[in-house]
Formats: sequence, C-alpha cells, structure tokens
Amino acid sequence: MIYANYAATTHILSNAVVTELREYLDGAHLNAGRNFEGLEAGAIALRARRAVGKLLGVSAAPVAGAVDSLRVIFTGGATQALNMAVNGLLRQGDHVLATSLEHNATARPLELLRKNGVIELDWIPCAADGRLDPEIIRKLIKKNTRLLVMTHASNVLGTILPVRECFKIAHEYGVLTLLDAAQTAGALPITMAGDECDIVAFAGHKGLGGLAGTGGLALGKNAATLMRPWISGGTGSVSHSLDMPECLPDRFEPGTQNTIGILSLAASVEEILHAGVEKIREHEQALTARFLNGLQTIKNIRVAGALDPALSMPVVSVVNHDPAEVSRRLFDDHGIITRSGLHCSPLAHKTAGTFPAGTVRFSFGRGTTEAEIDAIVQALETSGQIPAP
Ligand SMILES: Cc1ncc(COP(=O)(O)O)c(C=O)c1O
Repeated sequence: MIYANYAATTHILSNAVVTELREYLDGAHLNAGRNFEGLEAGAIALRARRAVGKLLGVSAAPVAGAVDSLRVIFTGGATQALNMAVNGLLRQGDHVLATSLEHNATARPLELLRKNGVIELDWIPCAADGRLDPEIIRKLIKKNTRLLVMTHASNVLGTILPVRECFKIAHEYGVLTLLDAAQTAGALPITMAGDECDIVAFAGHKGLGGLAGTGGLALGKNAATLMRPWISGGTGSVSHSLDMPECLPDRFEPGTQNTIGILSLAASVEEILHAGVEKIREHEQALTARFLNGLQTIKNIRVAGALDPALSMPVVSVVNHDPAEVSRRLFDDHGIITRSGLHCSPLAHKTAGTFPAGTVRFSFGRGTTEAEIDAIVQALETSGQIPAP
C-alpha cells in the first residue's frame, strides 16, 4: 500500500506519538486521581500550546523569543477554527476579500455570511496555476474592507501563495488578515512574529501529525482582543457570570476539550520542532521535484498547478477524463491511495479549469519515500490509462 493522500490527513502517527497516547490511555497521566484530572488536561494543553506557539512564532513582545502560548486556541479542526475566526471577527456591513483558491472550510462560512446579508464578499482571482499578483489586493480593497482571508497553499494545486506580501498590503489599509495554514503548518515555515498575520488557522491532523479532529487558531495580539466568542459555554472559570470570560484561552475554549487529541499534537509538534520545519520542507520539496520530473516522462499526462517545486507544497493534481476511475485503478491495481474529485474546493477547480470533473490528487508527506514516488510514476506509466482531455 502506498499512501499519497497526506493533503487530506496523516495516515499514521509517529512511534513517539503513539507511545505517549498509549501511556495516556493506560492511565499514567491520571494516576493522581480524578480531582487532578482537570489539572492534567490543562498541563497537556499548555505543553501543546507552547509547542504550537513556538512553531508558528506566536511572539510575546516585548520579551524577545518568548511565546505567548495563551493565544493558541484548540478546536476540533481547521474548519471549526476558520468558522470561529470569520464569525468572531466580522460585523454587519464588513467587506471581505478571499482568494479564488479557498477550501470550502472558508468559502462556505463566508458565503453563508454573505447570503445572510451580513458581509459583502469578493473572490480575488488567481491564475489557473494558482499564482497571485499581490498588487491585485490593493485594487480590490474598499473603504469597508475588514478582512483578507488567504489559504497559504492550495489543497488542489499545491501552489504556495505570496501571503506575506499580500498581508503587508492589507495592513497598509488597516485590513485584518486570516491565514488558512491547514496545508502548510508543520511543513512550511510560518511566523506570526511582527504580527504580519492577525490569525492563523491550522489543522492538527495533516502536516502537524496529530489525531483527526484536532486543529486550532493562533491569535495575533490585535485579533485576540477584537475576536468575539462564536461558541460559548462552560470554561471552569468565572463561573458566576453568564458571559464568556475575557481571559485566554478560556474565552474561546468552552466545553470539555479533546485532551487525547491535544496530547497527540503536543508530542507531534515537539518532534517537528526537533527535526526542524526547514528540513521537512527540504525533504518534501525534493519529493515533489522527483514526482514532477517523473511525470514528464509519461505521455498524455497534464498537471494542474505551478509545476515548480519551490512554489508548491507536495500536492500534485493530474487532469484526466475520469478522475474517480483512475483513482480506483491506482488503488485496485497498485495499492496507491489518492484522492479524486473536487477536494472540497470547487473554487480552486474553477480557477484551474478542472471543474466539475476535478482531478486525481497525489499528495505526499514526511513519511513518503523516494521509492514510493518512483513506484507511483511507474504505476502511472504502466497503467497508461490517464489520457488528458
Ligand atoms: C486548505 C484547507 N483548509 C481547511 C481544511 C479543513 O481542515 P479540517 O479537516 O481540519 O477541518 C482543509 C482540509 O482538507 C484544507 O485543505
């Protein structure tokens, strides 16, 4: 079996993460008794907050190099995080800009707010290969533009967007910025230091290597005060009041938290910090280059995207007449797991000109080997079943 669907989720947890989760389930973390349980969950969450805060460069100015881990909020995934961010930030009459590559996790909540008459919304047009000229932002900003939302990299094309340049322009006009780092956290360096980005939404179960159903938000200083709670409930703090507490992270983390998921994140992100994101990026970029080179040797293959590993995440979309059938054959004949169709991103497929049929998406991760890449290329060569339109 070859797993080539890392853009959807990480299929196996590392040994270190599994060991920690086993110990947790065996009760090693709970042996101080039930009254201590809540404290233990808090200690696990704090460890995860510190690791994620460090990874994303959530700075605690004026203390150079220190991390304000309380601005890291855990949720049940990037979708919940993005919903919390847009609903918590946006007010009646606000104008929002978002790219034509957004995942439905962003596109649907924004579209819902637009349909409910709360916001005005414009999609920023990207080129068919996913590239974006940052100067376009300047032309699209209006008097009431409040938020710029950008995916860091397309989950369909792999193309990395020039978010730093775009966010700089947005800030010149006082526009808040929200980064969807679902595809890049843990695989591409990200820094919130200097508050270039007001909010980063991350998925815990992709590049961060944690369990499914994990993710969250890292809040810049400005956003931490501007964002209102979107989900409310018990926090175990300020319980005499019917209002959500002001303090972080309680303000945005009501209810009993997913402690085992958060523990998986703590253990996995610590591993990533130890390995170094730059090293991971190097490995994944080399895999993308190897795969793209391999595809060049195959007749009739058309790839949607930037075709430049330096500008891409390890996500490659191949165009053909029947993506579902090709995916099925790759699995049945070669044991290769891919993802076909629209990848929850009709906007990106419309941008790429691959809507409504979609593509067959190959995506790689930390665990992918060169031998697997070569085997996938060979499978595509020998199957010869991928005619381009
Ligand atoms: C770009 C992007 N944003 C958001 C999401 C949603 O992430 P989650 O599954 O953690 O809710 C995904 C998942 O595929 C994604 O690729």
